[in-house]
Amino acid sequence: MLNGEKMLFSGMQATGTLTLGNYLGALNNWLTLSDEYKCLYCVVDEHSITVRQDPAELRKRARNLLTLYIAAGLDPEKNIIYYQSHVSAHAELAWILNCYTYMGELQRMTQFKDKSAKHADNINAGLFTYPVLMAADILLYQADVVPVGIDQMQHLELTRNIAERFNNIYGDVFTVPEAYIGKVGAKIQSLQDPSKKMSKSDENVNASIYLTDDRDTIIRKFKRAVTDNEACVRYSDDQPGIKNLITIYSAVTGKTPAEVEAEFAGSGYGDFKLAVGEAVADRLNPIQAKQADLLANKDYVDSIIKNNAEQANYLAQKTLRKVQKKVGFPERIR
Ligand code: TRP
Repeated sequence: MLNGEKMLFSGMQATGTLTLGNYLGALNNWLTLSDEYKCLYCVVDEHSITVRQDPAELRKRARNLLTLYIAAGLDPEKNIIYYQSHVSAHAELAWILNCYTYMGELQRMTQFKDKSAKHADNINAGLFTYPVLMAADILLYQADVVPVGIDQMQHLELTRNIAERFNNIYGDVFTVPEAYIGKVGAKIQSLQDPSKKMSKSDENVNASIYLTDDRDTIIRKFKRAVTDNEACVRYSDDQPGIKNLITIYSAVTGKTPAEVEAEFAGSGYGDFKLAVGEAVADRLNPIQAKQADLLANKDYVDSIIKNNAEQANYLAQKTLRKVQKKVGFPERIR
């Protein structure tokens, strides 16, 4: 779209504290992809208000997330890193796409069903049309690929259906996006129950490594990780706890599971857990330091926010204008 470059769009919500699972499953993939595509990485703050938020807290978390993107290594000179709420075209396109999405389709969304069960006192219309806003995010930028976790696949499939439906009526308006599921993607399990995904909403703080955890906390949590009695560092479904630790260690060191098995052949779990904790801390600590630097450097971050939102706006307006024309809105008088 942009000089023939392939476009990538992805986003995260600024709710909860991100975990090592989010980092290895999402952010880390984004880093490798940012060389191949023209990328937009959005902080989807508009999606967040489908659930009640404390305004000051939401604003703070959004800035934390945006600076985390940069601290993790996404270059804001090469990628467009911005807040969804700074580009009004998202909401405008979402309105139009609402008129091309069926109630029945939205009723089938498992995330809607889960969230309405969880927030039974606030089943608002935004929660229902959440996937349409997500479709607008993606389609506005003519994204070719969208890195998402397995839990968002259904929303991406809906996005594709909406795009195809619209294109069938009006001609080729939208690029129909493909999902990109990373290799490690979303496969980091809880440290306390390796049959469950590591989750930012787990009540047991020892189950998850938060990206804000300091070195000692990280090492302590790995020491307490649930394993087994096999006393053998082996990458096997019969040893889900150890398998998870190997996955994590592989992801942060770049070693293959077989190399990790060889490295720790004959070692006890204590030594292995310590090595995993140290490797994870070595990876996260510099990111944390860089993020703290950014948060202290208000003018610099503000200039990035302003500049990147302008770039996003420019691209988004191109698509929005085209769509408005197609559906029959009057031309603007200049
Ligand atoms: N719904 C996604 C999630 O909760 C976040 C999101 C919003 C997103 N818009 C997006 C992800 C567009 C990819 C593309 O994880």
